Amino acid sequence: MSLDQSIDKILIVDFGSQFTQLIARRIRELGVFSKIISHKKVKKNDIDHSVKGLILSGGPLNVYEINKYSFDKEIIKKQKPILGICFGHQILSKLNGGKVKQSKHREFGLANIYKKKDSLLTKKFFFKKKTNKVWMSHADQVSKLPNGFKVIASSQNSRYAIIENKYRKLYGVQFHPEVTHTENGKKLISNFIFSICKIKKNWSPKDQKFRLINDVRNQVGNHKVICALSGGVDSSVVAQLLNKAIGKKLYCIFVNTGLLRKNEERQVVETFKKKLKMNLIYVNAENEFIKSLKNVSDPEKKRKIIGNLFIKIFERYAKKIKNVKFLAQGTLYPDLIESRSVTGSQTSKIKSHHNVGGLPKKMELKLVEPLKFLFKDEVRKLGLELSLSNEIISRHPFPGPGLAIRMPGVITKEKINILKEADYYFIQALKKHNLYNKIWQAYAALLPVKTVGVMGDNRTYEYLCLLRAITSEDGMTADFYNFKKSFIQLVSNQIVNSIKGINRVVYDITSKPPSTIELE
Ligand code: XMP
Repeated sequence: MSLDQSIDKILIVDFGSQFTQLIARRIRELGVFSKIISHKKVKKNDIDHSVKGLILSGGPLNVYEINKYSFDKEIIKKQKPILGICFGHQILSKLNGGKVKQSKHREFGLANIYKKKDSLLTKKFFFKKKTNKVWMSHADQVSKLPNGFKVIASSQNSRYAIIENKYRKLYGVQFHPEVTHTENGKKLISNFIFSICKIKKNWSPKDQKFRLINDVRNQVGNHKVICALSGGVDSSVVAQLLNKAIGKKLYCIFVNTGLLRKNEERQVVETFKKKLKMNLIYVNAENEFIKSLKNVSDPEKKRKIIGNLFIKIFERYAKKIKNVKFLAQGTLYPDLIESRSVTGSQTSKIKSHHNVGGLPKKMELKLVEPLKFLFKDEVRKLGLELSLSNEIISRHPFPGPGLAIRMPGVITKEKINILKEADYYFIQALKKHNLYNKIWQAYAALLPVKTVGVMGDNRTYEYLCLLRAITSEDGMTADFYNFKKSFIQLVSNQIVNSIKGINRVVYDITSKPPSTIELE
């Protein structure tokens, strides 16, 4: 039985809200498994014995056009507790005989709601007061109470801010309890899942460790598994999980592209081969990569060359291992969630991100994706539970094409060496000054221009180093980190004084958008 049916859960029906993932996060933070399913996909058969309650998310849709979008309305009749949030509240009301219309006063941002009646849902939510601050974001509102419902709280503009049908365990809130701006929002979610759905805690890093090890063993049986190890957080956690589950039946292939951070290949071999005693196949392909990137300066060409060569090398080595049936990958939960498709909009391709997703097509391997239900922070906690070091777990993201996309223009061995050193100084300084963990991603880049400088009495004519350090939630948007002058000056001095080849340092202060995190 897969994780899906074997574990009790709260099912979140996604109508396209930007906060759907947050709802799932909040529930998991409370120690309970939650799963997101698109409203287009959910069928009444999905509401099986393991679903202890449903949450209908917010969304950009319009309740009066209910017939325009496909949605199996039978799920409402499955006699499970339901909490509708914002649009979910409106649709729940409409399907139970209520009415929804455009609000006279749209509410965006903080609003006060006033308690009208006690409810299991709001126990300790109002906490010794009759009012609470909540975060609203709606243009429509419920204008007629659905059949059998009572009003629990109202705002100045929304009479039906919280409603309930306590016998059928149906609840609706016009605001967003999942965002931190709503005071005690987590308490309301906690009341819903524990007091109303009566689900038990089942989601901790320890629970996951044992369950995932078991799942992998069941899936793989006696067969061999290969895994492309990059040394990044996700592939490291997958490798270690499989190592615990199947030991020597796991073969990790680590390709040194020559475009990694300084000492990275040494650290990976040290950790995974020497310390964790894994079957690690180390492939030194530095020369092959440099050769195929010769005179290439177009960013997309660089990515394609690197991606294709990586796959070629991986396949070459994978073929040497006999009887392999599975390929392990570090796919994460956000990769699977389709919430963005609700409004039909497709983000245009900015960069072709290279990962190893294309590998099994030719090799006809089955996939093992043990992290596919986890968010990034859950993967990190699982990694710690699996005894991986803090150093591996808290590493900044590093792109597949590596230093190649931090070096606009043509790539040479000399430039790679200069860049590795500059990056190393920067990252070491961040660690020494306790800044590394405050920053989502930081790196040094080498710009393809030389400028004039003076050192001692001599004129220099050397490369320009760019430093980038950003804060972000998920890499989709980012802001630059505001260093103290003394810190950035220290790093600049260190780099210019110690690395031959750089005589000027600049700090990138653009956000994403309009820039991206990487340079290419
Ligand atoms: P951008 O530059 O698109 O980067 O703002 C967002 C995040 O994605 C990482 N990144 C990549 N990761 N292969 C990867 O595995 C890639 O080709 C790639 N390009 C960018 C980047 O480091 C940042 O964390």
